Amino acid sequence: MIQFLLNQALKTEHALDPNMTVLNYLREHLHKTGTKEGCASGDCGACTVVIGELSTDDHGQDHLNYRSLNACLTFVASLHGKQLISVEDLKHQGQLHSVQRAMVDCHGSQCGFCTPGFVMSLFALQKNSDEADSAKEKHAQAHEALAGNLCRCTGYRPIFAAAEQACGQRQPDQFDEHKAQTITRLRAIKPVQTAELSGGDRRCLVPLTVADLADLYDAYPQARLLAGGTDLALEVTQLHRTLPVMIYVGNVADMKKIEHYDDRIEIGAATALTDCYEALSNEYPDFGQLLHRFASLQIRNQGTLGGNIANASPIGDSPPLLIALGAKIVLRKGTQSRTLALEDYFIDYRVTARQESEFIEKIIVPKADASQAFRAYKVSKRLDDDISAVCAAFRVQVDNGVVIEARMAFGGMAAIPKRAAHCEQVLIGQPWTQATVERACAALEQDFTPLSDFRASKEYRLLSAQNLLRKYFIELQTPHIETRVTAYV
Ligand SMILES: Cc1cc2nc3c(=O)[nH]c(=O)nc-3n(C[C@H](O)[C@H](O)[C@H](O)COP(=O)(O)OP(=O)(O)OC[C@H]3O[C@@H](n4cnc5c(N)ncnc54)[C@H](O)[C@@H]3O)c2cc1C
Ligand code: FES
Ligand code: FES
Repeated sequence: MIQFLLNQALKTEHALDPNMTVLNYLREHLHKTGTKEGCASGDCGACTVVIGELSTDDHGQDHLNYRSLNACLTFVASLHGKQLISVEDLKHQGQLHSVQRAMVDCHGSQCGFCTPGFVMSLFALQKNSDEADSAKEKHAQAHEALAGNLCRCTGYRPIFAAAEQACGQRQPDQFDEHKAQTITRLRAIKPVQTAELSGGDRRCLVPLTVADLADLYDAYPQARLLAGGTDLALEVTQLHRTLPVMIYVGNVADMKKIEHYDDRIEIGAATALTDCYEALSNEYPDFGQLLHRFASLQIRNQGTLGGNIANASPIGDSPPLLIALGAKIVLRKGTQSRTLALEDYFIDYRVTARQESEFIEKIIVPKADASQAFRAYKVSKRLDDDISAVCAAFRVQVDNGVVIEARMAFGGMAAIPKRAAHCEQVLIGQPWTQATVERACAALEQDFTPLSDFRASKEYRLLSAQNLLRKYFIELQTPHIETRVTAYV
């Protein structure tokens, strides 16, 4: 059984197909058809809903956080203990919500198909906006909030005007009025033990502790772990497969923690990408830069760092950065844990060092060392919401003009995210000069034989990798040059 709030109403579901997405639950089970299906793959934002979730601060105070996500990639079991708000919930006492009013006033809708998704992204933006922010900051936040929503007919200018209106004159709404009540209701349904949602011969288990997760994965080695679902759900929505047993890791509190130590940051594998990248960007600003280039806000709100590593995609964005930084992962199986350098996790295309019933518990990232220069670059066809053709991350340490350490990692260049061993060898012990960098660029041809696909040709990939290394060298020589986030095909 799972329990959640559907707006303010308590919902208890005993028997539902756990392969059902929140989109299909709303539309086909509850007949709430305001939330639309455009792509069922996280690309268009028409299915955007908002999830309210309790968080407790260091003083024991509960807070209610609202985040947008894609209902088409969210399985119903992940609603357990949360609040689901869909577009039907915004109109109150016969009056449009201020974000809906702004869309009408600013002519932000034509055919209307995309409009519920935009409205929900605007609603989440309004809930998280701060009136004290400058107009420039607000525009950047609106850009960020809406980058995962596509509109084919209106054009985005009126929608940005609606964002400005909605966040500029923020009025208290019914959600503000009911906030204390919502927190009380969410506290009342706070899960206290492993839950299960089953329907037919399919089941999804929802543990709360790492130990329970380990036990369940031992008992069901064939189960698929479900984190944000932004990859896994595609197997159902795009490949039309069924997932007979899933174990949802998103309610395991210890796997959603970010802990800061003197020399490292430890990040629970089930932490949302939004939170991870924000925490890492304080230490390494390039994570903050990449955050804006990683998928859309909806995907980053639900996708996790553990999922981004575990899926072992050769074009995942976090692994090259983490490998260049020398990050490690903690793998857990039953009561046993082992720590592995992240680069050793990836063995071959989608083949990893993870054993049966073993899962990623946390990621350990060393803290910044002022003597090492870290930079990351993503090359993709679009600035927003696009997958990398090439992703590169470099960290060199230069002492008295000589390279004493080099970690150069790439995504999109091989079947796995990988260090460039030959390139590193050419650099180490040599003067940090243009001539050395040119030799290192040549060595990249020994490190990689990239593939050609619809994102880029092999020649383009190799040349991009070499040029990114040249760019890195130039940036370190002239630190005022700031070109990395604008690199695209
Ligand atoms: C529209 C769209 C845009 C995207 N853009 C990008 C992008 O720009 N850059 C990028 O890198 N990726 C991108 N992705 C891919 C995806 O969002 C990320 O890889 C994300 O981090 C996956 O995390 P998740 O929590 O959603 O994983 P899930 O889908 O829940 O899981 C993915 C896989 O990892 C396994 N898994 C999950 N957690 C664990 C764990 N703790 N231990 C062991 N196994 C585990 C699951 O069983 C599954 O096999 C995009 C996806 C979509 C749909
Ligand atoms: S339907 Fe397109 S993102 Fe969900
Ligand atoms: S109003 Fe038609 S797709 Fe946006």
